[in-house]
Amino acid sequence: MPTPEEKKIFVKEKFSSISNKYDFLNSVLSMQIDRYWRWYTTRQLKCFPDGAVLDLCAGTLPLSLELTRQAPARQVVAIDFCEDMLRAGVRSTADDRRRPRIMPVCGDGEKIPAGDESFWGITVAFGVRNLARTQDGLDEMHRVLKPGGKLLILEFSRPENFIVKPVYNFYLNQVLPKVAGLVSGDKEAYEYLASSIARFYEPSELLRMMKKAGFVEVYCRPLTFGIVTVYVGIKG
Ligand SMILES: C[S@@+](CC[C@H](N)C(=O)[O-])C[C@H]1O[C@@H](n2cnc3c(N)ncnc32)[C@H](O)[C@@H]1O
Repeated sequence: MPTPEEKKIFVKEKFSSISNKYDFLNSVLSMQIDRYWRWYTTRQLKCFPDGAVLDLCAGTLPLSLELTRQAPARQVVAIDFCEDMLRAGVRSTADDRRRPRIMPVCGDGEKIPAGDESFWGITVAFGVRNLARTQDGLDEMHRVLKPGGKLLILEFSRPENFIVKPVYNFYLNQVLPKVAGLVSGDKEAYEYLASSIARFYEPSELLRMMKKAGFVEVYCRPLTFGIVTVYVGIKG
């Protein structure tokens, strides 16, 4: 088992190496369902159309863009520790009218570079699984959220349906690393994707950790047969 510091270095390197192909592979490999997942997650923040929102582990900014699309007055701070992912996002959105409302910041999600009670909402799409110290990250999210603010985590989970499960596992473990490895030139990054999903917490465990961080009214909702799950928590 790698130490948390080793995991951090590995994760940063892997995202850096696939940063230029990340968006393309994401939409091809998920058959664009990822757009629905991000739309659904963002909808949960419709009660905060004006306040600043933090998109943590923002990567190439796909969720930040959806956050600005759904609320024309919303400002988004997009934090990620992999500069190459943020740079790829900034490049691909150079002509987008929403870009000025997104502020990319290179920083660590386990030590968020923001003051206490800064944001009305936090979104983390496919990022929590990559944190080296999940509880530290959740504690930090709680710290930077305003009282009454909302945390939304979109993360892969493991489908239980007896038809979907074997098909999905075959796709995730056999097909995806080969195809994505060929296109991105980094098969290991997509083997890591499969193994990190297999090792990630059960939804009930992640909800318990959110409560431990101080979140209330926590619940989760599986989407697309439980291939992903959206977790919701409020800072009381
Ligand atoms: C799978 S990508 C998700 C990107 C984007 N949120 C999306 O919806 O596609 C995960 C991102 O988490 C970032 N990440 C992982 N650990 C992090 C940490 N400790 N602090 C900040 N970002 C981190 C990675 O650099 C990567 O860009």
